Amino acid sequence: MIKNVCCIGAGYVGGPTMSVFADKCKDVIFNVVDVNEERIKAWNSDDLAKLPIYEPGLGEIVKRCRGKNLFFSCEVYKCIAEADMIFISVNTPTKTKGVGAGKASDLKWIESCARQISAYATAHTIVVEKSTLPVRTGEVIKEILDSSKSLRNKNSTFDILSNPEFLAEGTAIENLLNPDRVLIGGSNKDAINALHAIYKNWVPEEKIIHSNLWSSELSKLTANAFLAQRVSSINSIGAFCEVTGADIREVSRAIGKDSRIGSKFLNAGPGFGGSCFKKDILNLVYLANHFGLPEVANFWESVVHLNSWNQDRLTHIILEKLFGTLSEKKIGILGFSFKANTNDTRESPAIQICKNLLSEGATLKIHDPKVSKKQVALEFGIPPIEECKKNEELNKKFKYKKWEYSILKDDFFDNLDAVVVLTEWDIYSSINWEKAAKKMRSPGWVFDTRLIVDEEGVINSGLSFWGIGIGNLK
Ligand code: NAD
Ligand code: UGA
Repeated sequence: MIKNVCCIGAGYVGGPTMSVFADKCKDVIFNVVDVNEERIKAWNSDDLAKLPIYEPGLGEIVKRCRGKNLFFSCEVYKCIAEADMIFISVNTPTKTKGVGAGKASDLKWIESCARQISAYATAHTIVVEKSTLPVRTGEVIKEILDSSKSLRNKNSTFDILSNPEFLAEGTAIENLLNPDRVLIGGSNKDAINALHAIYKNWVPEEKIIHSNLWSSELSKLTANAFLAQRVSSINSIGAFCEVTGADIREVSRAIGKDSRIGSKFLNAGPGFGGSCFKKDILNLVYLANHFGLPEVANFWESVVHLNSWNQDRLTHIILEKLFGTLSEKKIGILGFSFKANTNDTRESPAIQICKNLLSEGATLKIHDPKVSKKQVALEFGIPPIEECKKNEELNKKFKYKKWEYSILKDDFFDNLDAVVVLTEWDIYSSINWEKAAKKMRSPGWVFDTRLIVDEEGVINSGLSFWGIGIGNLK
């Protein structure tokens, strides 16, 4: 029976996953380790609002378990040595240089984990791939673990499992507590059963699926590719609706009633963001080409292509409605995270859309309930207006690319020419447009890329409304 678990990587997956595991398996010790000291410090913060990840429900679980059977530290080697099961939950971003740059996954963090495990594991250790990995990565990990025999403890032996994570940000805790399925891939029955026994503490038996290692690795990439494909599919039809007078909400409802299609993941929007959809599809594209399947590669690449096109399309629509020029115009941006209920901005469609608007000369006023000003500045590579004003050089350099960060009070709307809703945060659906309209410049526009604002309120206030998959509403 597993007594001590180490998770390498205290990120969006490692942190919440191990917190739920610890809450459900009180007899097992869970050590979450990371090389990022700042992140670990935040995980250990007394103020739960300072945890490095915002995820509804996470704070309470951390409060219950931290210091009892859940520990966050930078003691990677010590925790590896003590563990009888190790989850690898590190980042696997797209390669930025070398062979496969722009598509293949960069496995340098995975390789370094394998080397660390090989060097410090002390007895029999079950190594679990939690990160999303190219199919057949298990082979590489095994080779590294087995080949560094000279460095490692002679008594250590390893089994490798794949146990991909399917949680979605913003609903991570709910997804972990009540998963649609848990997938365990591997060849050694004892190792599979050991991990199965952990999940069995709260997941119904029929939801725990076993497969071979390669099926498990490929299933994770495939699940993300199918989900992203649905978003691109509905966004392609959204564009169609706008030019034909159809309403994407009605089309989604009509097709979603077909039990073969299903009603979930049919919301038109600015395009999919998040750290994984794009990288995982591009990885699939890379692998398909590698295995001599260019038609398969092209099919999946078109999903990413449509997503980028959709983001640029939105910029063109805003530009066209605002008389073809954005210079001297001020646009309010509501929402910067890639979806609601997370502070994650990775690949958020807001980044590209805002950059496009800035390039057209617009001044942006940005609000997000959970994303910090510092994070927005990091994503843009442009400091906010107030910092530029203080520094003549910055002022000159970013003269035409200006943005400020703001809270959402009535004066947010002062002198705005348009408001663009980019993330579906609840608070944006209860904005008083009558009050907002009085503060905005006329003719003012509201562009709703998530279909969450009170359209009637907008129209009654005298502002013009444009909705994704609907077009203009009079
Ligand atoms: P993340 O970047 O938030 O966290 C990864 C962490 O690993 C970082 O804090 C980094 O410092 C740490 N790390 C890297 N190498 C290390 C090493 N050798 N030793 C110790 N720490 C190390 O990433 P994430 O979003 O948690 O994603 C992790 C994996 O899970 C990725 O493969 C991703 O595709 C997959 N995944 C992510 C999600 C999600 O919602 N974010 C969901 C399912 C699967
Ligand atoms: C996604 C998957 O849903 C998870 O199962 C998976 O584990 C995870 O990726 C991963 O591997 O990282 P996540 O990216 O957190 O989770 O969030 P989603 O809810 O899938 O949303 C992804 C993007 O698609 C968001 O930008 C969201 O706004 C967009 N989306 C989603 C739409 O535009 N319309 C929809 O109907 C659904």
